[in-house]
Amino acid sequence: MSPKTTPSPMPAHELAPQSDAVASEAPATVPAKKLHIKTFGCQMNVYDSERMAEAMGTEGYVLTDDAADADMVLLNTCHIREKAAEKVYSDLGRLRVLKEAKPSLTIGVAGCVAQAEGAEIRRRMPSVDLVVGSQNYHRLPAMVRAVARGERPVDTEFPVEDKFEHLPERPMAARPAAFLTVQEGCDKFCAFCVVPYTRGAEVSRPAGRILSEARKLVERGVREVTLLGQNVNGYHGADPSGTAHWSLAQLVRALAEIDGLARIRYTTSHPNDMTEDLIAAHGEEPKLMPYLHLPVQSGSDRILKLMNRKHTAESYLHLIERIRAARPDIMLSGDFIVGFPGETDEDFEATLNLVRQVNYGSAYTFKYSARPGTPAADRPLIADHIVEARLQALKDLTNAQQDAGLASMVGRELSVLIEKRGRNEGQWVGKSDYLHAVHVRETDDRPLGAGVLARVRVTQAQANSLTAELV
Ligand code: 5AD
Ligand code: SF4
Repeated sequence: MSPKTTPSPMPAHELAPQSDAVASEAPATVPAKKLHIKTFGCQMNVYDSERMAEAMGTEGYVLTDDAADADMVLLNTCHIREKAAEKVYSDLGRLRVLKEAKPSLTIGVAGCVAQAEGAEIRRRMPSVDLVVGSQNYHRLPAMVRAVARGERPVDTEFPVEDKFEHLPERPMAARPAAFLTVQEGCDKFCAFCVVPYTRGAEVSRPAGRILSEARKLVERGVREVTLLGQNVNGYHGADPSGTAHWSLAQLVRALAEIDGLARIRYTTSHPNDMTEDLIAAHGEEPKLMPYLHLPVQSGSDRILKLMNRKHTAESYLHLIERIRAARPDIMLSGDFIVGFPGETDEDFEATLNLVRQVNYGSAYTFKYSARPGTPAADRPLIADHIVEARLQALKDLTNAQQDAGLASMVGRELSVLIEKRGRNEGQWVGKSDYLHAVHVRETDDRPLGAGVLARVRVTQAQANSLTAELV
């Protein structure tokens, strides 16, 4: 989560083909059909895309990173801001042209735009063959069969069954760091946010199922899991005995007992659900990484109230103090919205002030975007040139903090989980405990590889990454 200009959730991201395990599901005699998935938005969409690919693997589909070469293209969409949602329609326009040249192409829309707009998508874009909401994608194989029969299915009802119960077990050849959804939905209803409508009410997966998914990932070479949830620290899933509920801290401690799992992270948290036991876990559990994404959105109590955030700037700052008391080196990141309806210069100054006090390792700054159906949607907007100027001022401040955070790493010894080869011969790229991208060169006597946890000393800081040498 470190690039300074990259919004969180992450930018549009192509899910690269990464597994022959999916291909092996296809009968040997039938040529595999090719599926291209384009993922927009947050990490949960990245996770969902993987699980969609796994589900489609059982139908004989293998992944391709080339939409032009695909038999089916699936857009896994994001509805959080208007720009993200509109990008889907420009992609659908390009796909319509592709389909004119290749009428057998199946076009599917999944994710939060699908959830929010449903059949409306087909009205705007008749070339779309299927629309599947975020809670229904376990039904994708059946929907694709329906498309083959000439139907045009739309499935966005919140189902009674749990999609995870109906998805195949994780067959993907895993990378060293994997996402694992533990909680979905949100009951907080911040006045600007579509998530409670697109992802629904808060639901936590049972701890036993999360533990077994994590064990399977570890068997496939995963060393780090990031637990995902729209309000992840509100986790309250059934414990493995099914008689009580576990908090996120209890889940983290149980996951930490899995041999071979070296690192645990979680995202995204709400300040009001940062409980005492979770804060304590940051001080006590070495596998829990010293990085925490804790959005505050604004530093003005007046705006926080209008946003329905149910915390104040002061309660947030006090919380940060307690977290830092438990884990002094923790790296913090946050989300900020500028130009929320009613924001004055004074309110914005309060946001800058809060940022100065917290000192973030990275920050994600967004211009307010009115989302249909949310409580703030009808409030008068602030003039764009004012919002732009505020956004730039906030970015200048958070970028300077990020640069200083990176520079402070120079000379320090860190652990890096190696993820992939770098651009240069012998160079590898991984992530530090603090989630910085780190470039490390292997040596003749110490070759590196994906999944290696290396001790390094940082030699240089760049704009968004670090360079280090093995120690
Ligand atoms: N406009 C701008 N930013 C938004 N976010 C959520 N909804 C909106 C919106 N309507 C931002 C918040 C949230 C992050 C995921 O996206 O900062 O934490
Ligand atoms: Fe949206 Fe607020 Fe829930 Fe976060 S806590 S998902 S911003 S409603």
